[in-house]
Amino acid sequence: MRTVDMSDAAWAPLLAMRDGVAASDDNPAMALYGRIAGARGSFVLAQVGQSLDGRIATAAGDAKDISGPDGLAHLHRCRALVDAVIVGLNTVKADNPRLSVRLVDGPSPVRVVIDCHGGLEGSEGLFHDGGTPVIVIESTAAAERALPNATILRLPLSENGLATAAIVSALADRGLSRLLVEGGSRTIARFIEEGQVDRLHVAISPLIIGAGPSGINLPPIARLADALRPPADVYSLGSDILFDCALSGRQGE
Ligand SMILES: NC(=O)c1ccc[n+]([C@@H]2O[C@H](COP(=O)([O-])OP(=O)(O)OC[C@H]3O[C@@H](n4cnc5c(N)ncnc54)[C@H](OP(=O)(O)O)[C@@H]3O)[C@@H](O)[C@H]2O)c1
Repeated sequence: MRTVDMSDAAWAPLLAMRDGVAASDDNPAMALYGRIAGARGSFVLAQVGQSLDGRIATAAGDAKDISGPDGLAHLHRCRALVDAVIVGLNTVKADNPRLSVRLVDGPSPVRVVIDCHGGLEGSEGLFHDGGTPVIVIESTAAAERALPNATILRLPLSENGLATAAIVSALADRGLSRLLVEGGSRTIARFIEEGQVDRLHVAISPLIIGAGPSGINLPPIARLADALRPPADVYSLGSDILFDCALSGRQGE
C-alpha cells in the first residue's frame, strides 16, 4: 500500500496536467491522480465513500461525514481534476449537495444530474447557489419544462432508462470528457453495468454503520465466481484507505 502525502508541490503539477502540461514525478500522488488529470478523450471515474461495512448512509438517510477528512479531501481533488461531476436524482433530493471544490485549490466541475422522469422541482440548492453550470439529463419521454439556472439535455429512453454511453457521449459533445460519477449507488451501478467506468475509487473510512444502503447496487449474483474482481492499487489517504480499481468496460474505446 502506498501513502498519498499530498503537498502543494505535488498538487500544482497535477492541476497543470489537466490543462495539458506534462508531468512525470514518480510519487504515489502522481500515480493516483495523474491517471485522471492526464486522461485524454472520454474518461469516467466513479467514486464511493463508504464505511467498513460497505454503507454510504444510515437507514434513515444520514450520509454526512462518512468519509474522514482525508477521504473528503480526496473527493474534492477528484472533482478539481474532472470537467463534470454526475449524480442521480435521489442524491440531490437526499443530500442537497453543492458538488463544488472547497477543500483544495482548483476549479469546480460542471454539475450534472440524471433525472430521467423529471423529478427535480427547481427549488433544490444547486439551482440557486451561484455555483458552476448545472446540466439536467432527462428522457425525451418526460414532459418538457424549464429549470432555473440549468440546461436540460434530453436523451431518448433505452430499454433500461437512459443509456450511460449516450450520457458520456452527449457530455463529450459539450467539451466535458473527464467525468466523475459520484453517486448514489444506483447511478454508479448503471455506469458499471453498462461498461462505462474506467476507474472505480472506493474510499473506506473506519466506521461501522450496521445497516443502510450500500455503495454500489448491482443486480444479485449467485456465485462468487461471477463477482467483478478488478485489479486494484491500494493507497493510504491518512484517515481513509482507497482502492483504485481498473474496470475494463471502456478500455480501448
Ligand atoms: N458516500 C458516497 O460516496 C455517496 C455519494 C453520493 C450519494 N450517496 C448517497 O446515496 C444515496 C442515494 O443513492 P440512490 O442509489 O438511492 O440514488 P441515486 O443514484 O442518487 O439516484 C437514483 C435515481 O436516478 C435514476 N437513474 C440513475 N441513473 C439513471 C439512468 N442512467 N437512467 C435512468 N435513471 C437513472 C435511478 O433510476 P433507477 O432506480 O431506475 O435505477 C433512480 O431513480 C443517498 O443516501 C446519498 O446520500 C453517497
